[in-house]
Amino acid sequence: MIKACVIGWPISHSRSPIIHGYWLQQHGISGSYTRQPVEPSSLEAFMSGLGNKGYAGCNVTIPHKEAVFNLVSRADDTTERLGAVNTVYIRDGQLLGTNTDGEGFINSLKQGAPELQLANTRTVVLGAGGASVAVVNAILEQGATEVVVANRTREKAEQLRARFGTRVVPIDWDRAPDHLGDCSLLVNTTSLGMRGQPELGIDLSRLGERTVVTDIVYTPLRTRLLEDAAARGNIVVEGLGMLLHQAVRGFSLWFGVTPEVTPELRELVVRDINPVPMT
Ligand SMILES: NC(=O)c1ccc[n+]([C@@H]2O[C@H](COP(=O)([O-])OP(=O)(O)OC[C@H]3O[C@@H](n4cnc5c(N)ncnc54)[C@H](OP(=O)(O)O)[C@@H]3O)[C@@H](O)[C@H]2O)c1
Repeated sequence: MIKACVIGWPISHSRSPIIHGYWLQQHGISGSYTRQPVEPSSLEAFMSGLGNKGYAGCNVTIPHKEAVFNLVSRADDTTERLGAVNTVYIRDGQLLGTNTDGEGFINSLKQGAPELQLANTRTVVLGAGGASVAVVNAILEQGATEVVVANRTREKAEQLRARFGTRVVPIDWDRAPDHLGDCSLLVNTTSLGMRGQPELGIDLSRLGERTVVTDIVYTPLRTRLLEDAAARGNIVVEGLGMLLHQAVRGFSLWFGVTPEVTPELRELVVRDINPVPMT
């Protein structure tokens, strides 16, 4: 039996077991995918014993992504640029690290907005936290001319420019509405709009008619940002797609089958996000 897991601290919120459990069943694979709470002080010991515990690899979530980057033997170029690992797999007894957040983001956009062109266009990204790093890098890798980054703490947007170069243009948080007229994509990577958090409340009056709008927040499935943009007639892409698509490569690396993001899988996760009330 092939085993994989997701590690984090805390980890009880992770929906990854639903996703991988669905694919294991769909492909008739004798395997398991579990949540493993790992506190920071036991991370190194857990990772060095991963193979001995019988795991083919693991997903890594908050707060361990950067620490695990420093614990793997090797990482690919994109992951080196990000300095953060979300997927670990074992080859010849060595821990290898990769990061699938960027491809999850891009593949979700390809599914939800197939006409969107990122090459030679400008994107506006709200937020410069952990998830933003992968999103900004992925957009740059698609050949964007400019990624305008608005963050409450401007210094973190400046750090993205220092990391990725002059195509990243940091701006003040409250200037974001001025930049919405000529961008192909608007992305929210802040936690604003998430259940239990304040609303994002950005003024969309200058949003280009053909700008695609996406939010990586997926609880609720359709944030206020997406509702408001859709009401203006813009194409919108939900954040849940990123979560589903980032899981594909890990499954393939551990279990040897490249799975598909199906409507049935999406429904399973949606039911977990919005449980049907008991009557
Ligand atoms: N769909 C997916 O697969 C996926 C993947 C990863 C993350 N996410 C979601 O993405 C969101 C961000 O995650 P993260 O890991 O990047 O978090 P993070 O590192 O803590 O970053 C949070 C970001 O939100 C901004 N922010 C928080 N409160 C704010 C406020 N009151 N006003 C303005 N900006 C505020 C922060 O700005 P400052 O820098 O100024 O603090 C920062 O840019 C979370 O909701 C997470 O669930 C989704």
